[in-house]
Amino acid sequence: MAAAQVELVERFPGPGDYCRLRAEAGMAPRTIEAARRGLPNTLYGVSLLHEGAVVGMGRVIGDGGCFFIVVDIAVVPALQGHGLGKRIMTALDAWLRANAPPSAVVSLAADGDAKYLYARFGFAETAPFSVNMEYQVG
Ligand SMILES: CC(C)(COP(=O)(O)OP(=O)(O)OC[C@H]1O[C@@H](n2cnc3c(N)ncnc32)[C@H](O)[C@@H]1OP(=O)(O)O)[C@@H](O)C(=O)NCCC(=O)NCCS
Repeated sequence: MAAAQVELVERFPGPGDYCRLRAEAGMAPRTIEAARRGLPNTLYGVSLLHEGAVVGMGRVIGDGGCFFIVVDIAVVPALQGHGLGKRIMTALDAWLRANAPPSAVVSLAADGDAKYLYARFGFAETAPFSVNMEYQVG
């Protein structure tokens, strides 16, 4: 697979591709039912396509005014390290700059070294003032 032949489209993957991509990228699984309920609530999302197959994704969720969260940033392992994560983040960043009003907070939880990618787009660590807290259902 060549990164140069990958196309970015302003459409988030459907539930099947979404669950597959999360698994392929080594991210914690989401059930197909959770994906069917959650994905329609995406504010803005993009997909990376290679010969018709979905090979990457990223999206923004939130209330559209006060809080925006960047989630589900993933590139299939065979194409990682070729600037595609940066392409996804560039698209989300452009949308956020055009659509998030002054005073809005844009946040994300960075897994491992992905924080270096997000730092390029203005994200700064909030610890020790605040730390990410979560629990998973079931
Ligand atoms: C994180 C991920 C989306 C990055 O995509 P990518 O296509 O590999 O990233 P890019 O090639 O666009 O790299 C962008 C920049 O971020 C940095 N970066 C990205 N991932 C990095 C990593 N794991 N370690 C160190 N730096 C990293 C790169 O150094 C690069 O900067 P450079 O241009 O100065 O070299 C991809 O590695 C991935 O899908 N990982 C598994 C799933 C995951 O962890 N998602 C993030 C959840 S928060």
